[in-house]
Amino acid sequence: MTRGRFITLEGGEGAGKTTQAVRLAAALETRGLSVLRTREPGGAPGAEVLRGILLDGGIDWSPRAETLLHFAARAEHVARTVQPALEAGTWVVCDRFYDSTMAYQGFGQGADRAFIAAQIGLLGFAPDLTLVLDVPDAVAAERTRRRGLAPDRYERENAGFHARVRDGFRRIAAAEPRRCVLVNAAGDIEIVHAAIMRAVSERL
Ligand SMILES: Nc1ncnc2c1ncn2[C@@H]1O[C@H](COP(=O)(O)OP(=O)(O)O)[C@@H](O)[C@H]1O
Ligand SMILES: [Mg+2]
Repeated sequence: MTRGRFITLEGGEGAGKTTQAVRLAAALETRGLSVLRTREPGGAPGAEVLRGILLDGGIDWSPRAETLLHFAARAEHVARTVQPALEAGTWVVCDRFYDSTMAYQGFGQGADRAFIAAQIGLLGFAPDLTLVLDVPDAVAAERTRRRGLAPDRYERENAGFHARVRDGFRRIAAAEPRRCVLVNAAGDIEIVHAAIMRAVSERL
């Protein structure tokens, strides 16, 4: 059995991650691959409980505690969902992964980035390919507004926060060019999908 590949989609709110994860998973299935689409925080029963605590629990977590809760949810997600799927030969498409912790808690909220990097190292598990969807802040804000869902704790943050998160994602992509591809996600859905499929074909 050939191990599956682990692809993560990253970027701020309204970048188009969920839209493109659905399109990517469908395109891979068309190629005859078995595909699991999942998301963070969450993706396993215990991790979904932590998602509720993190996004809507009404608690103003201290930065390290918040980082560790994300990594606790991630450890559960990897152990229960991602690793078993990859071992069974399934490709896993994941909407957010550890780069979101670095971008949101590290760059956005000012948590200690070395502390987060240490957690990433301790996890001992990295994506085969990370697609970092990049859009100007105004475009992302307009898409999020049009989506019309009640905003969660992170979506309620101010414009300065979202600008720092975007800059953080761009720095992560630049620092890890073997794993990450920065995708211009400002174009229409088909154009972004085509760019993603090119990156997947070239890298995997
Ligand atoms: N390339 C695009 N052009 C225009 N609208 C888009 C594009 N990608 C996504 N959208 C729309 O923008 C909103 C946010 O997209 P979504 O995929 O939910 O973003 P994310 O998961 O990154 O927050 C949705 O209403 C979606 O239909
Ligand atoms: Mg989404």
